[in-house]
Amino acid sequence: MSAASEKTRVLTGITTTGTPHLGNYVGAIKPAIEASQDPNVQSYYFLADLHALIKCQDPRRVQESRLEIAATWLALGLDTDNAIFYQQSDIPEIPELTWMLSCVCAKGLMNRAHAYKAAVAENEAAENQDPDKGITMGLFGYPVLMAADILMFNANRVPVGRDQIQHIEMARDIAGRFNHLYKGQYFTLPEAEVDEKVEVLGGLDGRKMSKSYNNTIPLFVAEKKLQKLVRKIKTNSLEPGEPKDPDSCTLFQIYAAFATAQETAAMRTEYANGIGWGDAKNRVFDYLNAHLREPRERYQALMEDPGHIEAVLKKGADRARAEAAPLMDRLREAAGLGRFV
Ligand code: TRP
Repeated sequence: MSAASEKTRVLTGITTTGTPHLGNYVGAIKPAIEASQDPNVQSYYFLADLHALIKCQDPRRVQESRLEIAATWLALGLDTDNAIFYQQSDIPEIPELTWMLSCVCAKGLMNRAHAYKAAVAENEAAENQDPDKGITMGLFGYPVLMAADILMFNANRVPVGRDQIQHIEMARDIAGRFNHLYKGQYFTLPEAEVDEKVEVLGGLDGRKMSKSYNNTIPLFVAEKKLQKLVRKIKTNSLEPGEPKDPDSCTLFQIYAAFATAQETAAMRTEYANGIGWGDAKNRVFDYLNAHLREPRERYQALMEDPGHIEAVLKKGADRARAEAAPLMDRLREAAGLGRFV
C-alpha cells in the first residue's frame, strides 16, 4: 500500500438534518463506501453538523440525525480504520479556517452563490421590502465553511451532487486567492466529482426522492412500514396483463438500483408480460427487505449503542485533527498569527 500522502484524497460531507433514505444510499452512501475500499484512496467522510445549523434550528432533529447518519454508514460497512470518519463540530480548526478564508473571500463571490440567490429571489417574488429577509450570515457564508471543510484536508476529489458543483468552484477560487496572497502552496485545488453513472432515485410520487419533497423511503424503516411505503409508490392505471414500461417507472428504477443486471433484465421481461402492479410491488418489497434485513439489524444495534458511535467518531476526529492542527499552524504563521518565540 502506498503512503497516505501519495493517495488520492477523497472527501465528502453529509448535512445532518435528515434520516437516510434509499435515494441517499444509492446516490451517495454506497458509492462512497465503495470508493473508500480502493487502496489508492484516502477518504474523509464527515457529518456536516455545523452546516446543519444553517437550515435546522431544532436541536432534537440535529442530534437524532447525527446519530442516524453515523449508524447508517457504520451499518452499511464503512471501514473506519481505513476511511477517516468524523464529525465536523469535533474539529475546531474548521471554524478557525473558515474565518481565515472569509477574510480573503470576496463578498461578491458569495452574492453569486445559488442558495443565497434563490433565497433572495424568493423574497423578491414575495415582494418583501428587504431582499435579505430571513437570510442568516450562516446561509450567506455557507460556501466558505464548505471550502474550509475541503481545504483543511487538501482534498483532491469531492464527490457531490450537481447542486454542489458551484461550491467546489468557490473553494478553488478561495484557495487560489489564499495561496496567492500569502505566497505559498497552502492548499490543493479540489475537483468536484459528479458521477454520471450514479442514479438519482425517484421517490413515492415519482419526483426525485428527497426530504424536501417528503416522498422518501427511509433506508432502515421496520419491515411493515417498508412494505407500506413500497405499496404507496405511484404507478399508473394499467391492469394486470397489459404490458408496462419499465423505463418510466419509479418502482422499476428502485428495484434496478438494488438488483443485479440479470435480475433487472428478468423484471423487464415481467413488465413486458404485463405483471400486475400489486405483484410487482410485492416482488420489489421482498427484494429490498431481503437485502436490507442484515444492515437494518446492525443499524438497530448501533442505534442502541451511542457510546460505540461516539468512540468511532472520536477516533476519526483524532485522526483528522492530527492533520488539521499542523496545517492550521502553518496558516497562522503565514497570516502573521504565529508564536513570537
Ligand atoms: N453542502 C453539502 C450538501 O448539502 C454538504 C457538505 C458540507 C459537503 N461540507 C462539504 C460536501 C464538503 C462536500 C464537501 O450536500
